[in-house]
Amino acid sequence: MKVGILGGTGPQGRGLTRRFAAAGHEVVIGSRSTTRAAEVAAGYAEVGHVVGGTNAEAADADLVVVTVPYEGHAELLTGLREELAGKIVVDCVNPLGFDGQGPYALPVEAGSAAQEAQQLLPDSTVVAAFHHVSAVHLDDPAVTRIEGDVLVLGEDREAVATVCELATAIPGARGVYAGRLRLAGQVEAFTANLIAINRRYKAHAGLTITDLPPAAAPTAS
Ligand SMILES: NC(=O)c1ccc[n+]([C@@H]2O[C@H](COP(=O)([O-])OP(=O)(O)OC[C@H]3O[C@@H](n4cnc5c(N)ncnc54)[C@H](OP(=O)(O)O)[C@@H]3O)[C@@H](O)[C@H]2O)c1
Repeated sequence: MKVGILGGTGPQGRGLTRRFAAAGHEVVIGSRSTTRAAEVAAGYAEVGHVVGGTNAEAADADLVVVTVPYEGHAELLTGLREELAGKIVVDCVNPLGFDGQGPYALPVEAGSAAQEAQQLLPDSTVVAAFHHVSAVHLDDPAVTRIEGDVLVLGEDREAVATVCELATAIPGARGVYAGRLRLAGQVEAFTANLIAINRRYKAHAGLTITDLPPAAAPTAS
């Protein structure tokens, strides 16, 4: 599959690039700067087929992942509405704030960043996923297995199954259907808990769902 990553030059985009490229996908790292995108892409030449480009060029893929900060989310997606029409758009944006007490979830009028994305992209199929996977682990070649579950939320079973497969192709990871998009708010917000855990225990914590039958993933049924 050709996977585009919007804002792919940041830690989360780079980490997913490494894992998707290693799984055999062609990856297009999107950026507001083609120079930056090309430089970052060059760093993955030995991992697989990775190129850099504009965010619009990254949007011209089979499946597109959004890895920009929440502040830039709505503006970026609004500007790429046409390019993203008919595509699966995987949103892993966590709307979070930080103050003296640590991380906290920002209120989102649409309910979640993923629901906001679906409102802004009526002709795309938005799936929420990869919120809880550590960018540090993803982009560390010494970490050979990304142990944990990737919660995958969406309305369209086929799209959810595709994203579950994308996650499960990462050694150690497993894509698990976790409900419809209206449940994405608490999934995004839970990242604040994980960051608090990471700060206390100096970890890169993830999430594992217990008691699933071995064949639970990657289908959405
Ligand atoms: N870091 C993690 O461990 C992690 C894990 C799970 C989910 N996430 C989520 O993934 C997203 C990206 O995280 P990150 O740590 O990689 O973020 P980041 O480094 O702050 O941003 C990623 C990239 O987004 C682009 N960008 C920044 N501001 C933008 C704006 N206003 N408009 C358009 N593009 C903008 C930048 O690329 P250019 O300057 O090259 O355009 C930047 O390199 C966040 O929403 C985060 O909640 C992160």
